[in-house]
Amino acid sequence: MELFWFKKYNLLIFDEIDSTNSEAIRLAKSAVTGNFLIWAKSQKAGRGRYGREWHSPIGNLYMSLLLDEDIDIINQAQLSFVTSIAVYETIEFLAQNHNRQLDIQLKWPNDVLINGKKIAGILLESIRVGGKSYLIIGLGINIANSPKNIEKPATSLLAQGLDTQSVDEVLNIFVNSFDKHFVDWNQSGFTKTRLSWLEKAANLGKIITIDDGRNKISGKFNDIDSVGNIRIILDTGEVKSLSTGEVFFGKINER
Ligand code: BTN
Repeated sequence: MELFWFKKYNLLIFDEIDSTNSEAIRLAKSAVTGNFLIWAKSQKAGRGRYGREWHSPIGNLYMSLLLDEDIDIINQAQLSFVTSIAVYETIEFLAQNHNRQLDIQLKWPNDVLINGKKIAGILLESIRVGGKSYLIIGLGINIANSPKNIEKPATSLLAQGLDTQSVDEVLNIFVNSFDKHFVDWNQSGFTKTRLSWLEKAANLGKIITIDDGRNKISGKFNDIDSVGNIRIILDTGEVKSLSTGEVFFGKINER
């Protein structure tokens, strides 16, 4: 496989680190120039969304892209859709190589599922340093291990029968795919990404509940809009757009 991305990202590799996202923040704070790919074999303080821990033993992929690009804050969240599509394609490619058919789906805003179980997580962070803004895309893909003691079911490539994966092979396939979609998104905007994401979306057209931390709102998952907000139709027929929250399948007690 050709490493097209290799010329575009400064690669930093660590055997162990606190968190690749934290390292990206430290780099940004030192006002670095250029895009970086930070890859760690294990993390001591891996972070997930909502301040959760991301258990990070050796054997899985832990990486962050530090993008030194001028990305408008309103468009930044769209890159989590670009990233999830690249993860989807990575797993699809690996499955084809193993002659396996896997049910891969994307869950709003930025989870990747196989058979309804979480295989990967994305943590987007942004930071402004001296008038310059950086975007950090943190990605964890479960390759050999899946955390057991978490509230939601998780899986790994190994558990799905993709058993010969080296972490660097998965990283190469992912970054090649991400870079292709990132260039496309930069040149053409969100339309193609949005449609591609919707084709792969879990629970589209079904009743879901979104917990935004304060309220739980249930309705039919209808669409994502032109900036990536989720759109649901309530029982009353009202259409609601939400920019953040956690999605659960079905109707859960509203508060
Ligand atoms: C989530 O689903 O909650 C997001 C998980 C993101 C985990 C990755 S692992 C690499 C990067 N470094 C971190 O500390 N977190 C992200």
